[in-house]
Amino acid sequence: MPAQMHGDSICTGPIRGPLYGVGGGAFCHDAAMSAESPLYLSLADRLAGLAASGSLRPGARLPSVRALSEQHGVSVSTAVQAYRTLEDRGVIEARPKSGFFVRRARELPPVPAATRPPTRPVAVEIKSIADAVYDLLGEPGYVSFGAAAAGESLYANERIRRAMARSAQRHVDSLGRYATSLGVPELRQAISRRAVNLGCHLDHGNVVVTNGCTESITLCLRAVTQPGDVIAIESPTYFGFLRAMQALGLRAVEIPMQPRTGMSLEALELALDTQPIKAVLAVPTVSNPMGTIMPTASKRRLAALLARRGIPLIEDVICSDLAPTEEGRRAVRSFDRGGHVMLCGSFGKTLAPGLRGLGWVEAGRWSREVASLKRSFSGGGSTVVEWAVADLLEHGGYEQSLRQLRRNFSEQIDIARQIIGAAFPAGTRVTDPSGGFVLWVELPRSVDAIELYRRCIGQGIVVVPGPLFTTTTRYRNCLRLNAGAPWTPQREQALRMVGQLAAGLVAGA
Ligand SMILES: Cc1ncc(COP(=O)(O)O)c(C=O)c1O
Repeated sequence: MPAQMHGDSICTGPIRGPLYGVGGGAFCHDAAMSAESPLYLSLADRLAGLAASGSLRPGARLPSVRALSEQHGVSVSTAVQAYRTLEDRGVIEARPKSGFFVRRARELPPVPAATRPPTRPVAVEIKSIADAVYDLLGEPGYVSFGAAAAGESLYANERIRRAMARSAQRHVDSLGRYATSLGVPELRQAISRRAVNLGCHLDHGNVVVTNGCTESITLCLRAVTQPGDVIAIESPTYFGFLRAMQALGLRAVEIPMQPRTGMSLEALELALDTQPIKAVLAVPTVSNPMGTIMPTASKRRLAALLARRGIPLIEDVICSDLAPTEEGRRAVRSFDRGGHVMLCGSFGKTLAPGLRGLGWVEAGRWSREVASLKRSFSGGGSTVVEWAVADLLEHGGYEQSLRQLRRNFSEQIDIARQIIGAAFPAGTRVTDPSGGFVLWVELPRSVDAIELYRRCIGQGIVVVPGPLFTTTTRYRNCLRLNAGAPWTPQREQALRMVGQLAAGLVAGA
């Protein structure tokens, strides 16, 4: 709904009512979500959205607290809290004796420069602190910006529960049978049909259902490498890849990432010319931790580059459905004619966090090897869950749910960037991700992210320190922050606290 200024008033439509709140479950219009989101936060979010879209121009004077409360039928204290929230986020400013104004320059931190990892291969060794961080990622006792998981309330939980119950009823006999297949045909077909959205035409007979994307990637690595082999990866990269590579005794050569365009193909080509690289493992669409989407022309070039050399690409598409445009969702695999791209995905980011244990792989020319490895290492899965997920993908309003998720994540990321701009020390840089819900933050050089992590834990807050995303000694001053959960006053306060703790480390340096 466009905003209109009428003198002192902002008409944004009623705050109470069906559009209430920025959140909203994937399918709900939704009493449950409204009840969770305090009124002042809904009002603040709506005003922030108007400022972000330019409907409220920088420098514009906002209505007085009393006028705002009257316009929106909320109490004066709700209006005050909404303005305070926007001040904290750096969206508006209070000028003594004059009132509230939209801040002029949106003081958002700049995006980090391209990364510059060393060019030689390194044995993958997980940092000693990694297990401790990993164990705390999703700990319920903390305010967590740790695990790259979205808030539960954003998903169609009721539909998922119903699909599970339906599947258990309909396929009750299967509970008494021992599953030995590579996935129920209904799910393998549903996955291959959905891959059309990534521009890929998969033979469902080659789709193997796995215990999550991590298993898919591990199977692909096993199929195409031996211990000691060198794999090219993005830098920074998702730390789960490093864990898998360490377990398989692999070495990594890290390729620079440009936060807006992804892996440097020039650097990759140079590495391919000079190192005995056996495979490339990458997340070209909505990378983790940078949230980058590689431009389509680069995806095409990457496919051609690897096909020419006969080198496999293990392409992780776990977050591809979260890319905002159809073009952006297009996979490198869609340009592959020779079966050199092995496609890996799962449902933990897009369907429900609790479904992270269900993934899939279509391994191109290595499909047979991957299927055989799957039989060797983990056999069949839970057919009842597989049927339920097939049902959800085909008939569960998945597309509609994705559209809502993309909107929610984009708003949540904007808010996070505003808070970082307002509360983190000068010199901080932060990514402006093209999709997904994680942010990569580069703090001033004097900040040791592992020390910051420890201080955050002391305050009951989890962040992930940058050194976990590399095999090298880089990213000591970086953090990954998950903005997948809807903002609450407690989460906003916690993020500001991370900024204050970082500022304390700068001051102490
Ligand atoms: C890029 C990427 N790939 C794979 C995974 C792990 O997927 P799964 O939980 O399905 O094993 C994650 C989880 O955060 C991820 O970010």
